[in-house]
Amino acid sequence: MTSSDPTTAPVDPTTTEAWAELEAHDLALEGSLREWFAEDPERAARFTHDAADLHVDLSKNLLTPETMRLLLKLAREVGVEERRDAMYAGAHINTTEDRAVLHTALRRPAGSSPALAVDGQNIDEDVRGTLHRVYEFAEKVRSGEWTGVTGKRIETVVNIGIGGSDLGPVMVYEALKPLAQDGLEARFLSNIDPTDAYETTRGLDPETTLVIVASKTFTTLETLTNARLVRSWLLEGLRESAGLTAEQEKEAVAKHFVAVSTALDKVEEFGIDPQNAFGFWNWVGGRYSVDSAIGTVLATVLGPDVFEEFLAGFHAMDEHFATAPAEQNVPLLMGLLNIWNVNFLEAETHAVLPYSQYLHRFPAYLQQLTMESNGKGVRWDGSLATTETGEVFWGEPGTNGQHAFYQLIHQGTRVIPADFIAFATPDHALVDGEQDVHELFLANFFAQTKALAFGKTAEEVRAEGTEGALVAAREFSGDRPTTSIMAPKLTPSVLGQLIALYEHITFVQGVVWGINSFDQWGVELGKQLAKDLAGAVAGDEEKISAEDASTSGLIRYYREHREG
Ligand code: F6P
Repeated sequence: MTSSDPTTAPVDPTTTEAWAELEAHDLALEGSLREWFAEDPERAARFTHDAADLHVDLSKNLLTPETMRLLLKLAREVGVEERRDAMYAGAHINTTEDRAVLHTALRRPAGSSPALAVDGQNIDEDVRGTLHRVYEFAEKVRSGEWTGVTGKRIETVVNIGIGGSDLGPVMVYEALKPLAQDGLEARFLSNIDPTDAYETTRGLDPETTLVIVASKTFTTLETLTNARLVRSWLLEGLRESAGLTAEQEKEAVAKHFVAVSTALDKVEEFGIDPQNAFGFWNWVGGRYSVDSAIGTVLATVLGPDVFEEFLAGFHAMDEHFATAPAEQNVPLLMGLLNIWNVNFLEAETHAVLPYSQYLHRFPAYLQQLTMESNGKGVRWDGSLATTETGEVFWGEPGTNGQHAFYQLIHQGTRVIPADFIAFATPDHALVDGEQDVHELFLANFFAQTKALAFGKTAEEVRAEGTEGALVAAREFSGDRPTTSIMAPKLTPSVLGQLIALYEHITFVQGVVWGINSFDQWGVELGKQLAKDLAGAVAGDEEKISAEDASTSGLIRYYREHREG
């Protein structure tokens, strides 16, 4: 059995009783979704659960009540609930970095009791204290009290960050764009491709631009390079438009640059006044940080009230995950279902298909959350994983995807579990003649999950008048697993709930596989090599020759073909 001591070796899932039973169950499993639905009128209700405002229908997955019973047994045998409780309580479950994992503490409501104290830190007080400062700053910008150095009101907030310091903020901004204050927009700069800095600043007025440099470590090459590029752009622009003198530069940086980081000493080294910096803590992972001060751009452009509602949504899902009985615990069930799909049905990827244009960056956001968390072959005690781990997450909003890659999901040879996400209330209720366009949109959502589940038999194809070889081409096997997630409306709270849902699903999978979902050592080698290659790329022939034949060939190609 497991212990709540986070350093205890993970239970090898393949040695559990449940795993052996699941293997036997998998081999013996008979029937199809058509049959299972026909045999069991309660199937949809049995596999549909509500978590906060989310209504989640798992019934179109390839499972029976027995599958779920065995998966829940597996969760008990590997100790998912104990590890969840250890995480919420601040145990150092991020073992390779010896850190607590407390993103759930970022969204505890003000005045939560008893207060959460971990490693001598009063977590609630610090979280609320920082939020208070972020909101004060946001209100000043929104009211026009905070101006640029020439006294003009801020119109654009540029967030410079990458990975977790970018993907969350940009996704949420895109999702909640209609709530942005009139006359205040956000832009996001992440890539070290200089095109990104060029395009992000293009058309902006330095006098009305505020820059947030967001970096947990404040050492990230892309972010610091972009921050320097934008600082030069800003100062240059102010010199031209407002005759800024060298003596006024410091004041200009103070009025136009703020920072968000856990490394406030490095913020100061960069030249940003620590008064204009918002901190967070090493127990917040980058990909779990959109609800920390990393969301300053959101609190500023969307407003503190929206941000508070967003946090409340996370908390509602945290409560559900912590307290709902296992049989109705949606993140637990969805995490276990992913285990079933990956380890027993051999799915290699997982599609996330929001039927909401505003969620167009959600799949990209989830890619970091899921793949940086569980893309690992080593377990938290250093031993090798004993099963396949992290599947590839990908997706695009429906209906666009329907006209691109759904063909493969419907008729390809691979199992691709897919999450379909939709909202009852449209953000914009438009009509086309008599047709409510949102209803047309939702009809597609319902149609796709139905087609994937139940398919179309050869007899049905023939009954429509098709004959010969075309019959097979027009047949749909069905039994393509999907989960449908619906909510009344895409609100800040519902968005927080959705993010927290996937955070906890990721956690559940990590625990079953024995993975520390909170480190990311796999990103280090590439970073190191990029630094090491700088001399060769700049033309040092000795260094170019020392590289492997492929790399030196590619560098030479670059040096011969670069124009300008
Ligand atoms: O390189 C990966 C990573 O460390 C991510 O985990 C992180 O979200 C991103 O880089 C950005 O890091 P930082 O916020 O420290 O700049």
